[in-house]
Amino acid sequence: METVDTIDRLRGGVGAAKLAGNTIAVVPTMGAFHEGHLTLMRRARQECGLVVVTLFVNPTQFNNPEDFRKYPRDMARDASMAQDAGVDLLFTPKPEEIYPAGFNTTVTVSGISDRLEGASRPGHFAGVATVVAKLLNIVGADRAYFGEKDWQQLQVIKRLSLDLNIPTAIVPVPTVRESDGLAMSSRNVRLSPDERKAAVVISRALADAKRLADAGTTDAAVIAMAMQAVLSAEPLARVDYAVVVNPATLEEVDTIDHGALAAIAAYFGSVRLIDNCLLS
Ligand code: PAF
Repeated sequence: METVDTIDRLRGGVGAAKLAGNTIAVVPTMGAFHEGHLTLMRRARQECGLVVVTLFVNPTQFNNPEDFRKYPRDMARDASMAQDAGVDLLFTPKPEEIYPAGFNTTVTVSGISDRLEGASRPGHFAGVATVVAKLLNIVGADRAYFGEKDWQQLQVIKRLSLDLNIPTAIVPVPTVRESDGLAMSSRNVRLSPDERKAAVVISRALADAKRLADAGTTDAAVIAMAMQAVLSAEPLARVDYAVVVNPATLEEVDTIDHGALAAIAAYFGSVRLIDNCLLS
């Protein structure tokens, strides 16, 4: 695996691999790798000839400076995990490589970016959309891999790549979970042992929603109330939202008849976790 920190060197490596006839994969990340990231990398490895991982803790998508400061960073550990997962090129740009002096463009995906995560974290999706548009343009990959845990982010990215005619295919990858059901997240390491135990309540509430849907409940309010009831029984959980929404637009729905997504965000101490589950 080669590690590069400039766009020129990255493009040199990608260009040579393309000339040799390889398909190119990119896995955009902010580091602090866990099994979820490794699953994206392994899937990319299976499907493409050259695997690029970008590792950039993007300051513009953190609306809370404390969250940015505390975001876990361990380059040496990440590099060794990426190497073991079969990554060919690790791109670790400095902030000034991505946002040079004079940088003055923002990509905003309207509507969807204002709901749920967007409402709780103003500016977050403009930061994500801008950096992802840049990373997709910088790498010029055939396929880009994103986890479904960040479902809303995935919809924002699908929309921007369609609207901006970015030729990279966006490949969604199912959420990877701990054995007790907690969705893997780089933020999980910041939970205290008690908070870690309590956080499993999110996947329990989603499992309840799915059980109700599978048993024939179609009323979205009934399903949302059931999730709330499970969450409020956990004293360490402070719920931000527990809702049933349209999977594409993230707007709340009355009925799950045409497909729906159950989505939860909750704080455990200062750590904010999200998770979701499709309801048939
Ligand atoms: O999901 C993430 O890790 C980030 O939001 C992404 C897509 C790498 C953009 O910074």
